[in-house]
Amino acid sequence: MELESIKKIYAGYSSVYDALFKRFFYPRIKHAITYMDIKPGDRILDVGVGTGLSLSVFPRYCSVVGIDLSTEMLRKAKQKIDENRLDNIKVLSMDAMSVGFKDDSFDKVFISHVVSVVPDPYKVMQEVKRVCRKGGQVVIVNHFKSKNKLLETVEKIINPVCKKIGWRSDLCLNEFIDKSGLNVKEKYMLKKIDFWHILFATNDK
Ligand SMILES: C[S@@+](CC[C@H](N)C(=O)[O-])C[C@H]1O[C@@H](n2cnc3c(N)ncnc32)[C@H](O)[C@@H]1O
Repeated sequence: MELESIKKIYAGYSSVYDALFKRFFYPRIKHAITYMDIKPGDRILDVGVGTGLSLSVFPRYCSVVGIDLSTEMLRKAKQKIDENRLDNIKVLSMDAMSVGFKDDSFDKVFISHVVSVVPDPYKVMQEVKRVCRKGGQVVIVNHFKSKNKLLETVEKIINPVCKKIGWRSDLCLNEFIDKSGLNVKEKYMLKKIDFWHILFATNDK
């Protein structure tokens, strides 16, 4: 998917995103951030922060930068920052495939429901590894294609439709881990049958 199409799709979602997706996405976002090993003063990058569903979960003793391609999604995130006086958080318009921060700028990176949205997930992961310090933590929440043959076939069939509405359904978890070069410490789903995985990894560089 092209960046311009992604921008258009998420501009369209921005006003209804929380109403449509919060009930599915928020429990895993909350779980993943709660179990991140966030220390006072940690610098955290939230890649593809969207409307900012994650923002109120981060402790106030860390600093957070959220980046996103969509100005409209960021506007919603900014509203949450202002309404909740989250002075430790700022959001910026930025392409996750070309992050405008220096190497090692962050201690931890959080990425939820984004790696199957961007045109090149491996370019994003390259940037994540670059801007995260060596030994830092990278936490990913995302849908990956099912290991169940029937579900995998369904996901393959619906992939062209999914792409039209803003994400792909055929990203393979093991291939993603191998190609990203992340040192995954833990990976699991919150429920026995679930569509989303949570990965906790270390950035070995
Ligand atoms: C499904 S939403 C996820 C938002 C949020 N992380 C969450 O879990 O609710 C995907 C987000 O990725 C953003 N996005 C897509 N491509 C991007 C890119 N290349 N750089 C930065 N953000 C991007 C979209 O604008 C959208 O806000």
